[in-house]
Amino acid sequence: MQTPMHLTGRHVLVTGASAGIGRATAVLLSRLGARVTLTGRDETRLADTLAELAGDGHRMAAFDLADIDAIPAWIKELATSHGPFGGLAHCAGLQVSKPVRGVDLAFFDQILHVNLASALALARGLRQKGCHGDAGALVYVASVAAWVGQPGNAVYAASKGGLISAVRSLAMELLRDGLRVNAVAPGLVETEMTERFRATTTAEQFQAIVDRHPLGLGKPEDVANAVAFLLSDASRWITGVTLPVDGGHLVR
Ligand SMILES: NC(=O)c1ccc[n+]([C@@H]2O[C@H](COP(=O)([O-])OP(=O)(O)OC[C@H]3O[C@@H](n4cnc5c(N)ncnc54)[C@H](OP(=O)(O)O)[C@@H]3O)[C@@H](O)[C@H]2O)c1
Repeated sequence: MQTPMHLTGRHVLVTGASAGIGRATAVLLSRLGARVTLTGRDETRLADTLAELAGDGHRMAAFDLADIDAIPAWIKELATSHGPFGGLAHCAGLQVSKPVRGVDLAFFDQILHVNLASALALARGLRQKGCHGDAGALVYVASVAAWVGQPGNAVYAASKGGLISAVRSLAMELLRDGLRVNAVAPGLVETEMTERFRATTTAEQFQAIVDRHPLGLGKPEDVANAVAFLLSDASRWITGVTLPVDGGHLVR
């Protein structure tokens, strides 16, 4: 029996595919039948992900998403050479802790470009003529940081809060293109990003954050499962929402 979770034949762009949540997402989508285009900056690590994918027709296309203005033309090129997209899983992101006294415009721009401006540029790219099929879905990876206060995290939190707000408007704007737009908001997940964050805290501070997750820390696959759901027809009546995937963090 084929379930509505299948993605057979769907061409999906996965950003952040060289590590963590993006890599787990790409692997799962390939197992669900999608044809995946992987992107990130590190070609060696993208090749490692490519080697893990199930099925055929996948490829990698290294790109620096901080180059916002170049994104729409790049998407056009990908769609022209490998067919229109039926989905986007935007998993690329950057978290750097910095107290507000150290925040300058360069830091603000760096985080906001990768986490928020790229999300809008990807939507702009995908809605171009010939870049998407008759129906599709965009899924963005936000964060519970948008809703939960954490010292030194104001810029990252603002970027993810902005993303959650943008998702609602994009969902309305892209209706006529047949594109649904949703987000997931993970709690703390075991990835390299979390390892880097752990290095900036004391063991007690890190444990206190872990303790705020009743189901424990998440695995990249936990987030990938939710992304796959929001990409698939199982969520065909859902648009404009942000789904917490956080081990109970927000309700604790
Ligand atoms: N881990 C968590 O606890 C957690 C919690 C909530 C939300 N999130 C969000 O989940 C997403 C994935 O996080 P993760 O933990 O998997 O992070 P990660 O292990 O650090 O991976 C980040 C990914 O983003 C890509 N990336 C970063 N800057 C880029 C740029 N300028 N251009 C293109 N790609 C870029 C990296 O690829 P290259 O290095 O190859 O460029 C890498 O594949 C992020 O949006 C993050 O904010 C994570």
